[in-house]
Amino acid sequence: MKFEDFLFTHDGADLFEKTQGLDEVLTSGVMTGSEGLGIRLSEKTSPEVKIKEKSGSEHKVIMLGSNSYLNLNTNKKVCEAAMRAIEKFGYGMGAVSVYAGITDIHKELEKRIANFYGCEDAVLFPSGYGTNIGVISALCSKNDIIINDSANHASIFDGSKLSGAKLKIYPHGDIKALEKILQKLKNTNAAKLIITDGVFSMYGDIAKLDIICDLASYYGAKVMVDDAHGLGIVGATGKGSAQACNVEKRIDLNVGMLSKTAGAIGGYCATTKKIAQYLRHYARSYFFSTSLPAPVVAGLNEVFKLLEHDRAGRKELWLNITLLREKLSKAGFNTENTQSGIIPIVIGNESILFKMHQDLRLSGVYTNIVTYPAVRRKDCRLRLCAMKDLTKTQIERAVEIISKIGKKYGVI
Ligand SMILES: Cc1ncc(COP(=O)(O)O)c(C=O)c1O
Repeated sequence: MKFEDFLFTHDGADLFEKTQGLDEVLTSGVMTGSEGLGIRLSEKTSPEVKIKEKSGSEHKVIMLGSNSYLNLNTNKKVCEAAMRAIEKFGYGMGAVSVYAGITDIHKELEKRIANFYGCEDAVLFPSGYGTNIGVISALCSKNDIIINDSANHASIFDGSKLSGAKLKIYPHGDIKALEKILQKLKNTNAAKLIITDGVFSMYGDIAKLDIICDLASYYGAKVMVDDAHGLGIVGATGKGSAQACNVEKRIDLNVGMLSKTAGAIGGYCATTKKIAQYLRHYARSYFFSTSLPAPVVAGLNEVFKLLEHDRAGRKELWLNITLLREKLSKAGFNTENTQSGIIPIVIGNESILFKMHQDLRLSGVYTNIVTYPAVRRKDCRLRLCAMKDLTKTQIERAVEIISKIGKKYGVI
């Protein structure tokens, strides 16, 4: 049984019948392992954290499954700013941005993000997923063409579909295929938008933004980059994938998420003043969705004060990324071509993946688990994220455990 078996209602079946089918398969543990894909945290995310099993028992795991790469979710200054804001503004805004949902600190954050990218303006969205949905569906419609890397995040594909634009997809990282698509479209009048993850969320590699920007200029397309996993991590001073590829001034739509490195929730699009203004009127996930809570925004202002001066601990993080990756490669794992804080371990067999994931958790290491629909089943993998505050001892212990379990299942 597979995930896809429960997508549709079969002819003549009750609308909810598929939910019963899924329940039976999940209970059997075939599709996700006996504990499902996730865990329950008993305390704040940190390098070693207490989790709760379904049975109710608790134990510690080394956390290799958090996107809070720089541990900013627990940064003292960030949390103190959030606490001050809760006193002043309460814990929720109670209105969408266009009505009574924003404060001076929301506007300050938009300005900080715009400055970070050297752009005129930035629009804050209440979620990262909603940022992609909103930006793409606001700017593109049935007369336009969107060109996507096949490994782009699901929210980019969902936004593309919602927009009604024609959709072209090139195999992950295949720039020649991208150029072929652009060549074929050369004689159309349709407006074109190339969209790519900056750092690919399931692979960890960086898009070839220099070539993408060259192709876009030559063929008259615009470029949107979702740098959810590049912000604060890659590039000479942590400005992200565009900086890593020396194309900082050439990205039309700098989208990013406030849920990964920034440790909170939300998303943004940094761009020109006129595009930002357009988004505030036409991006429905902005217009029709309640704005970010002020405590989150206050914390994020502190985050960007650190990020803009590259003082959030990026260098310490990179020491951990390098150590973790080197040790895993030395142990014999395939970590692909990662260039970021995301370190995949390709397993390629779902049933082994589920068993390994479970053994790892019970032995004290938590990693993310990735399979269809996030990647093809034959590319299924453990997805590890390095964190700044991990100690050398924790990394060594984690690799020891992963290696022992990898050997047990014949992965190495
Ligand atoms: C590349 C990418 N884009 C968008 C998102 C969605 O962001 P959020 O989780 O903040 O909604 C994610 C996170 O899952 C992501 O990895």
